[in-house]
Amino acid sequence: MKQPSKTSAVSQKILDSRSAYDQWAQSYDTHPNPTVAMARIALARDLQHVEGLSVFEFGCGTGENPYNLGCRGAASLVGADVSAGMLGRARGKLDGMDAHLHHINDMETSFLMNETFDLIMAILVLEHVENIDRFFQLASHRVAEGGLIYVSELHPVQSSMGIRAHFQDEEGIEISTHSFHRTENEFIASAERSGLRPDFIRSWTPDEEVIAAEPKTLKYKDQQLLLTMCFVK
Ligand SMILES: C[S@@+](CC[C@H](N)C(=O)[O-])C[C@H]1O[C@@H](n2cnc3c(N)ncnc32)[C@H](O)[C@@H]1O
Repeated sequence: MKQPSKTSAVSQKILDSRSAYDQWAQSYDTHPNPTVAMARIALARDLQHVEGLSVFEFGCGTGENPYNLGCRGAASLVGADVSAGMLGRARGKLDGMDAHLHHINDMETSFLMNETFDLIMAILVLEHVENIDRFFQLASHRVAEGGLIYVSELHPVQSSMGIRAHFQDEEGIEISTHSFHRTENEFIASAERSGLRPDFIRSWTPDEEVIAAEPKTLKYKDQQLLLTMCFVK
């Protein structure tokens, strides 16, 4: 993902999530993005023991998180996403693993499967979801007793300044999609309304390891970039 320079006049377009991510799919894994890079490392540090878990990722995108958890011993992987383009990338990546991907129309259909999971993840997707109460209700219904719901989002400090998921297409047009700013307390209150209790809540600022892995995170060296929240049923 290219960042627009501060002096250049960049045309902008706001698309619905499906259309934006269908386009973004071409470069999502190859043009590193600071928030995504931070989220990958946060997930690895936050959830260190995933061996044997059944995992569902809502908004799984190109499948990088299920792929990483599968490599670390998760037993089964299910992903759902509105973007066929993103899922196309995920299919290639997860080939040969015990993984199932669902192309969904909306949040409700992603939870229709008749299974429960040890771990349900929503990583960098809830900013696009208007009704997070509904997300937590559905996830709470589908997670096993004692199971975890893991949420990772652009930090509210960033979204309060109007920053949201965006990329530049091949013509240099900056594409973004609808997103909703929420505070940490709003996430926690919403999860608690569905009977979930917080296990941990962490704010992430890029450290040396993160900056070495993705130099573009240097820009956020002294800033809170990501918020991760884990809830238990
Ligand atoms: C920033 S990407 C994150 C993908 C992946 N979780 C990751 O960490 O790389 C956001 C993903 O959410 C998907 N998405 C957006 N709105 C959605 C919705 N309402 N239901 C399901 N997926 C959605 C997009 O298609 C995209 O793949």
